[in-house]
Amino acid sequence: MLPLLHLKIASFNNTMGKCRKSLIGFPILLHTLCLLLFPQPLLSQENSFVRQPAGQRIITPHERTHSDPQQVHVSLVGKDKMRVSWISEDKKGKSVVEYGRNAGEYSEKAIGESGSYQYFFYSSGKIHNVVIGPLEPGTTYFYRCGGLGPEYSFKTPPPTLPIEFVIVGDLGQTEWTASTLKHVDSSEYDVLLLPGDLSYADTQQPLWDSFGRLVEPYASKRPWMVTEGNHEIESFPIVYPQGFKAYNARWPMPFRESGSTSNLYYSFEVASTHVIMLGSYIDFHPHSQQYSWLQSDIATIDRVRTPWVIALLHAPWYNTNEAHQGEGESMRQAMEHLLYHANVDLVFAGHVHAYERFTRIYDNQADSCGPIYITIGDGGNREGLALKFKNPASPLSLYREASFGHGRLRIVNDTHAYWSWHRNNDNDADVADGAWIESLSNSKACTKAPDQQNSSKEEL
Ligand SMILES: [Fe+2]
Repeated sequence: MLPLLHLKIASFNNTMGKCRKSLIGFPILLHTLCLLLFPQPLLSQENSFVRQPAGQRIITPHERTHSDPQQVHVSLVGKDKMRVSWISEDKKGKSVVEYGRNAGEYSEKAIGESGSYQYFFYSSGKIHNVVIGPLEPGTTYFYRCGGLGPEYSFKTPPPTLPIEFVIVGDLGQTEWTASTLKHVDSSEYDVLLLPGDLSYADTQQPLWDSFGRLVEPYASKRPWMVTEGNHEIESFPIVYPQGFKAYNARWPMPFRESGSTSNLYYSFEVASTHVIMLGSYIDFHPHSQQYSWLQSDIATIDRVRTPWVIALLHAPWYNTNEAHQGEGESMRQAMEHLLYHANVDLVFAGHVHAYERFTRIYDNQADSCGPIYITIGDGGNREGLALKFKNPASPLSLYREASFGHGRLRIVNDTHAYWSWHRNNDNDADVADGAWIESLSNSKACTKAPDQQNSSKEEL
């Protein structure tokens, strides 16, 4: 008999059901045929869950007027400001945001800037960016863009711990993306962090618009802080050699505030947490601008002010999946020692469409003073899951599974945080993995100067 399928994928189950009925007459032949046509999904680490197939792409149409704002999203700027970004098809749309603490009452108003971009024969709408504030922490604000259209609201992050981050990579715009976003939205959080691969437009610029409309209900009410993945590059020889044209135009991040000269790497601080966003697809070698910036950014970290330090990048430095093996290796070799000596607590990556949590590592060895590495590239994109993990499993890898889902990092206080991975399971999100994490700022053995550091390496 075929194994019992726990996941309620209607079409899949229907087909398998027909196969089961057919088995009555010609068991061996039809069983083999069924397995060839509908391969048995691989079981997870717990041997109790069926991995989800790739979902259909969702195109989110523009259903408002030409003058109405669309694709609204917000991001943190400095200690107490927020950038509101949106697009209007009407080139006369104003870059103004009205906002206040009560619905329909806008006591404040800010004016920003606008731009647009061209990509071959595609012309973007008018892209507006307005920085508003100062804002009170932990407060809900109501706002309107361009002086018209629907009212939105967002909640600013708390001033102090606890804070809850949602982390989800390789989002795309499929049925699974919609499922992931629904699960993300089903319980409270403060800031969403995205380690690259947003729209999967892959040069088809209208898909950037579709993605903006898909995520608007979520990205307009909590700050979304993103860094780029390979699907953001969209370079073309001679015409667009630098790449990132749409990404930089549509998803501006607060890089200047952290001394960066590029939207492709930056840092920010929120509620006792220093967040470093690195770029896997811009030069990271010593003597590069990104490397110098990271050195200077790390020098600004005060573990009394921010006892937690986390980093995000796209191509994972540690990965036991067969997909994308070694793609983050040159960046690891260039930069790992900087994050290690800065006592970074966690490093999140995407790119591999699966979930994997490692122990604390430095230079391929378990090290109690190294960061915990987590791959969370399972947001739901059209390319589907990376099903094959290398065997035997490395002892450095503590949990790995190819299922769609999202992660949550709840930093409870200066010393402890709880990480959980929420696997998409139809309409529900199951907590499939979780671990308490202690900040390295609390470890005396790890807070010595780099040249005196007594790292406690363990040979495996
Ligand atoms: Fe990627």
